[in-house]
Amino acid sequence: MLKKRVEEVLNEQLNREFYSAYLYLSMSAYFDSIDLEGFAHYMKVQYQEEMAHAIRIFNYVSNVGGRVTLKAVEQPKGTWKDVIEVFEETHKHECFITNSINEVLTVAHEEHDYATINMLQWFIGEQVEEEATVLKILNQLRMIEGKGPGLFMLDREMGQRISNVNLENPEQTTN
Ligand code: FEO
Repeated sequence: MLKKRVEEVLNEQLNREFYSAYLYLSMSAYFDSIDLEGFAHYMKVQYQEEMAHAIRIFNYVSNVGGRVTLKAVEQPKGTWKDVIEVFEETHKHECFITNSINEVLTVAHEEHDYATINMLQWFIGEQVEEEATVLKILNQLRMIEGKGPGLFMLDREMGQRISNVNLENPEQTTN
C-alpha cells in the first residue's frame, strides 16, 4: 500500500510529466510554424517520451495500490523568440524536473518506501541523459548563433531522431 505522502508527490510528478509533454508539443507546433521541420519532429518525439514517463508513474501508482489523481495541466507557452530560446527553456525545464524527481525521492526515503526509491532510480538516470542531450544541442545552437546554414544542417539532423516510445509498455521505451 502506498503511503499518502508518497502518493501525493507521485501524483504531482505525474502532472509535471504531462505538462512536459504539453510543453514540448507546443514547441513542436512553434517549430512547424517557422518551417524547422526537423526540430518540430524532435520535439514531437520528446512529447512522446514525456507521455511514457507519465504512464510509467501512472502504472506504478496503480500497481502498488495507490490512487492516481489527474489534475489540470497548465497551458504551456506557445511562442518563442528563436530556436536558442526554446532550448534554453528546455534545459531550464529539465533541471526543474530533475529537482522535482529528487524531491519525490527525498519523500520516499523519509517514508522508508523502498519500492518507490527503486522505481525512481530509472528517472534519476533518465534526467542525467536528458539534461546532457539538451545542453549539447543548446551549445551547438550557440556555436552557429542559431541561424544560417548551420541551423539548416542541424534541423536535418534533428529530423533523424527515432521514437521507441511504447505507451502500452512504457518501461520498454528506450530513447
Ligand atoms: Fe520526463 Fe524530460 O523529464
